This record gives sequence, C-alpha cells and structure tokens, in this order.
Amino acid sequence: YGTSSVNQEGHLTIGGVDATTLAETYGTPLFVYDVKDIRNRAHEFQEAFINQGVNYQIAYASKAFSCIAMVELADELGLSLDVCSSGELYTALQAGFPVERIHFHGNNKTPDELEMAVKEKIGCIVVDNFTELAWLMAITETNKTKMDVLIRITPGVEAHTHEYISTGQEDSKFGFDLNSGQAKKAIKMILSHSFLTLQGVHSHIGSQIFKAEGFQEAVKEIYRSLAAWKETLDYYPNVLNLGGGFGIRYGDQDHPLPLHVYIDYMVDKTKEEAAKLDMPVPEIWIEPGRALVGEAGTTLYSIGSRKDIPDIRTYISVDGGMTDNIRPALYQAEYEAVLANKANEENTEVVSIAGKCCESGDMLIWDISLPQTTQGDILAVFSTGAYGYSMANNYNRILRPAVVFVENGEHECVIERESFEDLVRHERRYSAVKGQNR
Ligand code: LLP
Repeated sequence: YGTSSVNQEGHLTIGGVDATTLAETYGTPLFVYDVKDIRNRAHEFQEAFINQGVNYQIAYASKAFSCIAMVELADELGLSLDVCSSGELYTALQAGFPVERIHFHGNNKTPDELEMAVKEKIGCIVVDNFTELAWLMAITETNKTKMDVLIRITPGVEAHTHEYISTGQEDSKFGFDLNSGQAKKAIKMILSHSFLTLQGVHSHIGSQIFKAEGFQEAVKEIYRSLAAWKETLDYYPNVLNLGGGFGIRYGDQDHPLPLHVYIDYMVDKTKEEAAKLDMPVPEIWIEPGRALVGEAGTTLYSIGSRKDIPDIRTYISVDGGMTDNIRPALYQAEYEAVLANKANEENTEVVSIAGKCCESGDMLIWDISLPQTTQGDILAVFSTGAYGYSMANNYNRILRPAVVFVENGEHECVIERESFEDLVRHERRYSAVKGQNR
C-alpha cells in the first residue's frame, strides 16, 4: 500500500517514517497520509490525458477528504476542486485555492450556498435540478454576475457497485433525467439565460467502480441524446464531465484497473462518438476522490481489550471504530490490516477487530489473521484515506483523530486531534435548570 514497507526493527513504515513513532508522537487513532502516493496518482491521471491529446481537467472530489492542507496539495498538483457544500467551498477558499478551478456540486445547494459561489466567482456550478436552476437564475441576475454551469444528467447507467453509492440510474436523487425531456428543457432554459453560460454536461455513475464500460455507456447515452435533440436543439457541449468513481484496492477482493485504462476507455469512446456526429472532441473532465487519496491513507489504532469466546471468536478492540471509519458498518466494506510493531512476525491467530462504540455493528474487520496480539500493539488499517476522516463523527462523544502527512521520511500534523473542549464548545447551559453548582 502506497510507499509502506518494513524497517530493520520489523516495524511498518509509511512514506519512510516508522508507524510506531507516528503513533507515539501523535497518539492514536491517527490518520496517516502518504503524500507521495497522492502525487503519483495525480500524475498518472494527468499523463493518461496528455497521452490521449485531449484538453482535460481533473477535479479532486474533496468530499473524500477535505482539509486546508489537502486542498493546498491539490492546488500544487494542478488539480481542480469539486466541492459539494459551502463548508467544502469555505475550506477551499481558506486554503487559497484558485476560485476559477472550483466546481460546485450537490442535489440541494441552498440559495445561500449558490450566492456564496456566485459572489466568489467560482469556476462553475453543476446544476442539478429545476429548483436550483430557478434560484441560480435569480441570484446571477440580482448580482449581475455571469456564471459558467454544467448540467448534471442521469444517463440511466448501472454502475454495478453498492446501491448507496450508485448514482447514474434513472431513479436517483441526482441530476436531470435524460430520457423524459427534462434535461433538454433545462438546457434550453440555461441557453436562453443571459447570466448563465452552459459549458457542458456532467454525469457521475457511481463510486468504487472496477469496470470501465460504465463510463463508455454514459458517453454513449449522452451522445445518443445529443443526436436525438439535433433537429430541435442546437447544442453541443464544450465540456464532458464524466465524474469520479474509479475503484481502489481495499483488499484482495478488489481488482482496480490501472488509472489510465479508465481514461483511455472514456476518451476513446468520446472521440468515436464525436466523430460520428462530425463534431470536435469536448474537453474531458473527471472528478476522482477515492482514487487520489484512498490508498494513500492508513489508520493507526492502539489495541486495547481482548475477549476470547472459546470455539467461537476472539474480539480485539481498538481505540477507534465507526467514529473514524463508518464504512464497514454502512457498506459492509472490507479492509486489510497488520500489526505495525510486529510487521515481520508470522500470523498465528484469527481475530475480529472491534471498534469502541456502544454498538454491536461497530466492527472494523471480521476474521483477520494476525500475529499474537497484545494490548498496546499498533494496528495499521490500510486504504482508509477516502471517506474515513471526512465521514468521522462524535458518536459516544469520541474525539475525532489527528491527521498527519508523511513524505520523504518527514511527518507533519495537518489536523489536530479534537479536544474535550471542542466537544462542548458550542454548548450552553439550559437556563431553566436550577442546580446548586451554577
Ligand atoms: N463526483 C460526484 C458528483 C460524486 O458524487 C462523487 C462521490 C465523486 C465525484 C467522487 O467519487 P469517488 O471518485 O471518490 O468514488 N461515502 C461513500 C462514497 C460516496 C461517494 C459520493 N460521491 C464511500 O465511502 O464509499
């Protein structure tokens, strides 16, 4: 995983840093990001587009993991940025991310959020539905500010992934339906509006996708509609945004394609379809989140209590769980792990890794082979870089972990661990309660 390896003491290293040193220095649970791995993946995507000779933008989907340092890194890597809330937009602005490369998503952007995006003059808004379109028209008129938009459509393509993270099917809360005439109607409305400029079409079929064919299907469906509309709608997109969703490896069950294969498939198909219509190849934009940061992240936990149920199971508990990684509970996601302080030792027992929340569903890994585990061992869970910290929560009033970036043997904290004071920071006493100690 990433640039992880094992040093002479038999300890796991990440980006050249001993994982046990990181655990000692910053405490656990701890998210560790191998920055080099993120850089490599960004370059892999960029090279694929350069080899294809098309204009492109790669927008990092910041929902996968957003913080000021990550946004700064995305900027340095020449990526654009996909935000899907005013909170992610605010983070991007705080990081000084160039506004013209920010794209705003979401199925329920509020008028306030739209106004913030318009006033900040971000690169484009991905229009999702008629309600939003009406608001956006009014806001751009009032502010006399032009705004580039993409129109999000649902191509009616199944992504063959978990249903919670599948978005391209017709029955979806996202985007305009291609076939019922809604997308066409929305395009006409945008084209005739003086403050909105329609840059292109957007489709996102889902997440953790291992087959490139789904992207080709989406391209095909979009072009099928463009061709069908030709008589009554004089429109051809400058930009085709095919979303994110490129799968990563969590464990042996996952077989992701090399990143360039996804790009080659989608660009080849677009070239083919554009040629059929005798039109130029549009700019191709993508929005990877997980594929950029997922495998770069490792979570370090300290092992605590042990419960042996004879002939049934051994539960090994760690000091985090569904508060820092809700994916096993929510999607039955599977992860691999090692003991960072015993990385060279042979596996001798099969155990199940439990989180510390008061909930039976808070299990991180079922039936994993590990060396003999004892309290104080450091468990390193791999591929936790996407939708781990970003979906972290304070259930049971557990503090959110710290986040560390490592690169070339150096380490640096980019998000501090939450404190007890943070937990009660926004709380007020209830004035009707009369206590003695008040
Ligand atoms: N673009 C759009 C419009 C999206 O909705 C998403 C993800 C992405 C890009 C990035 O997808 P990625 O490349 O990261 O797969 N919490 C779930 C994933 C939800 C994805 C939501 N949208 C998980 O932990 O698997």
